[in-house]
Amino acid sequence: MIIGTIKETKAGENRVALSPDVVKNLVKQGFECTIESGAGVLSNFSDEAYTAAGASILQSAAEVCQKTDVLVKVNAPSGAEIALLKQGSALISFIYHLTNLELIDQLNAKNISVFSMDAIPRISRAQSMDALSSQANLAGYKAVLLGAHHSARIFPMLMTAAGTITPSRVLIFGAGVAGLQAIGTAKRLGAVVEVTDIRPETKEQVESLGGKFISFDTGDVKIEGGYVKEAGEDTLKKQREILAKHIAAADVVITTALIPGKKAPVLVTADMVKTMKLGSVIVDMAVEQGGNCELSEAGQVVVKHGVKIVGETNLPSLLSQNASEGYSKNIYAFLTHLATKDGFKWEMEEEITKGTLICKDGKRLVN
Ligand code: NAI
Repeated sequence: MIIGTIKETKAGENRVALSPDVVKNLVKQGFECTIESGAGVLSNFSDEAYTAAGASILQSAAEVCQKTDVLVKVNAPSGAEIALLKQGSALISFIYHLTNLELIDQLNAKNISVFSMDAIPRISRAQSMDALSSQANLAGYKAVLLGAHHSARIFPMLMTAAGTITPSRVLIFGAGVAGLQAIGTAKRLGAVVEVTDIRPETKEQVESLGGKFISFDTGDVKIEGGYVKEAGEDTLKKQREILAKHIAAADVVITTALIPGKKAPVLVTADMVKTMKLGSVIVDMAVEQGGNCELSEAGQVVVKHGVKIVGETNLPSLLSQNASEGYSKNIYAFLTHLATKDGFKWEMEEEITKGTLICKDGKRLVN
């Protein structure tokens, strides 16, 4: 079986789907690997490193696509990339199939078997394949660094001959994968960290990382399998009331609140931004899902009412080397679960296969 990868073409994307280390392991398992020349350069992986790991370097994306049985990518393919794919081959990448309907039709027209990395179930057996988590973890770290970068205040307390500088106050919404990493990072930099989440069980995790948990009555929140299914307007209203004074006192606010499959809840309204201190910073990680802050703009740093609002949509790409290493390991675990060197196992009823195989034989399998 030939596994290939190409240079990502999405603007601002520095990651690559296969690292030289993972190529080496795939080759050890009997797979062949083809890599487009320069595909790894923005993640600090040279063509020479891939060659040393046992891959063949090809000069164009078209050549790689025509040669490979399975194309692995980070981002969903563009129309131009779909045109290059070999009829009947397989694709593994982030797809977001619920919103990318046209893309699925185009892939079906070429009989591509599509596995979606964003659909890996969050079960213990699939942890090593969980690319959303590996990337969100790094993104949570980077969000704090961006907050610190855009703030005109330092995070730790500092006692100097010229007086004492008090530590920055960092407020984090959401204590999932990204939020927990953000707490740890902000604490390591010496900030005072406050956290809110509507899953009460996160209190203990937050406190174990040294964060102060802000509790409120989450009466109408529905939780299923450890995930929030629904949070009613009553809860969000109560949360906004309780959090108002914490937002006004914060130097940096990081928002990571997400309810799977739903538009991001608005937690920091325009009126709340008006109450914030001049020069304070909001990093809205949920900006691509509509934003947790009413005033954030995707891909932009905007200043509203004297507050800097950061809407970076691809934080993992800013840490491309580690993000590519992590993603690539997720791909390895997934691929070796699905296939051997002789081909796919097609275990159609197996939970991970069933959850991630979006289309096959020209048909959409998952709705
Ligand atoms: P997750 O599902 O692990 O965590 C989300 C958390 O938000 C959960 O703990 C949930 O209980 C909490 N939450 C839901 N409603 C809330 C509310 N009203 N108040 C407080 N907390 C609430 O998700 P993960 O992986 O940590 O990702 C977080 C966000 O970051 C997502 O929107 C994701 O798309 C985004 N993200 C953005 C990146 C970027 O480059 N901007 C990169 C990676 C992730």
